[in-house]
Amino acid sequence: MKFLISAGPTKERIDPVRFISNHSSGKMGYALASAALKMGHEVILVSGPVNIIPPKEANTINIESAAEMADAMKSNFNDADITISCAAVADYRPVITHQSKMKKGDENLVLELERTEDILARLGKMKVENQLLVGFAAETNDLIANAKGKLERKNLDWIVANKIGEAGTGFAADQNEVTLISKNGKMIKLPLEDKSTLAEKIISQILT
Ligand code: PMT
Repeated sequence: MKFLISAGPTKERIDPVRFISNHSSGKMGYALASAALKMGHEVILVSGPVNIIPPKEANTINIESAAEMADAMKSNFNDADITISCAAVADYRPVITHQSKMKKGDENLVLELERTEDILARLGKMKVENQLLVGFAAETNDLIANAKGKLERKNLDWIVANKIGEAGTGFAADQNEVTLISKNGKMIKLPLEDKSTLAEKIISQILT
């Protein structure tokens, strides 16, 4: 099967030295890519800027911004049997990217931000029969209710509900704790484990 997997953060440039981003390390998405490869599948890995090495058998596309991630995901989506959106895509970007370094003044600075495209929601509209679309929901509160909302709104087959905000799990940690929820109402809680073990369990489950 052909997997399309996104991983890592996006960076939205303010000027040549400053940007908006988040703490995603790419570990969870890269673990999913490695697990799919280990099971004999093909993988296109669309990766934001991270400091880890992608699995060498993956076809890795490096991107920086949400707009670049949107292009890479949309142009590879029709060929994919299974798409997993694990990336922490910025929801907003600066309206203006300054070409030279912004000078500081004495006043407060207001930065105007605009929405980026919701890539996963767009893929949910492009999806045809026999394609599986899997999203993540990173939530500090009301994990299951918020994840179910995203599952429905984005027309997903599965969502991986990922509680964040606690030490040792979620962003940048080596371990993670998630609940898998399917559009048919299945709910499977996977306890705290290494991201690599968890990735194998997630992929086995979505393939059943
Ligand atoms: O990279 P690590 O350090 O290992 O951390 C892993 C992780 C915590 C980043 C990962 O497990 C995770 O939860 N990824 C989703 C992060 C996120 O942005 O969640 P969200 O609830 O804001 O977004 C919901 C879904 O929509 C996600 O599948 C996201 O990829 C997608 N999305 C979001 C915004 C946007 N503009 N376009 C999108 O496609």
